[in-house]
Amino acid sequence: MATDVLSPELVTSGLETRFIGQRVIHFLSHGSTMAAAKREARRTAAEGTVVITEEQTAGKGRAKRVWLSPKGSISLSVVLYPGISQLPYLIMITSVAVARSIEMVTGLKTQLKWPNDVLIKGKKVCGILIENELQGDRATWAIIGIGINANIRMKDFPEIAATATSLSDELGKGISRVEVIRCLFVEMENLYLSLGDGELIYQEWRDRLITRGRRVQVVDGKKRLEGVAETVTKDGSLVLRHDNGSISYIVAGDVTLRNTRLDSPATLGQ
Ligand code: BTN
Repeated sequence: MATDVLSPELVTSGLETRFIGQRVIHFLSHGSTMAAAKREARRTAAEGTVVITEEQTAGKGRAKRVWLSPKGSISLSVVLYPGISQLPYLIMITSVAVARSIEMVTGLKTQLKWPNDVLIKGKKVCGILIENELQGDRATWAIIGIGINANIRMKDFPEIAATATSLSDELGKGISRVEVIRCLFVEMENLYLSLGDGELIYQEWRDRLITRGRRVQVVDGKKRLEGVAETVTKDGSLVLRHDNGSISYIVAGDVTLRNTRLDSPATLGQ
């Protein structure tokens, strides 16, 4: 599918942010933008530096899974230097910013699935990976990795087509990746700068989660839990009520909705 090249000039010119996306490092092909962004962070690159690549040859998903990032997708990582108290909100900020940008640019309705998936009609369209380094009680850096299935024909990727979708498949035509990215940077930065005590972003994130109030199975490594995903806490944990009434607070895992047509075991990394 023909698609625009994400040159730094195209992404940054007239971009209405103070720092996110004001410096862009662009590759035609790269292993993973996470590794390149980490190198930037370790040499204290300007906050908001973004590494973008047209395709990844070793895209990383959560839980060491592979993330497919062919040409036409959006693969980028943002370097931030948040305070430690801001760390739990990064996933909320990023998923809400992705959801808002997709909705604004394409008109498509999105859903969020705990902990960090953005879906359209129950299928995953975006994955988010956050890595950070702590030093004592300070975060030295955080890298926000965002992968969006933008201009991709899912039928070319049968291994994930049952659980993943793309913006172009949903719209029936290609989209401007640059528009989505620029909107995303503006939304992310506004949410990051207006974080305050985190209450507003927490509420929007919680209210957008399709998992809330639903029966789910949560898999974390070898652990498998089932119950009702009652809510999420302000630090991002999932509150799971088991059938015997007891409660578990879960910080990481893959959620599958039960007894619903949205069932989508997220085991393929997309
Ligand atoms: C997930 O498993 O859902 C997270 C996927 C994150 C993919 C993005 S693409 C840009 C960045 N570089 C990577 O290698 N991974 C993240």
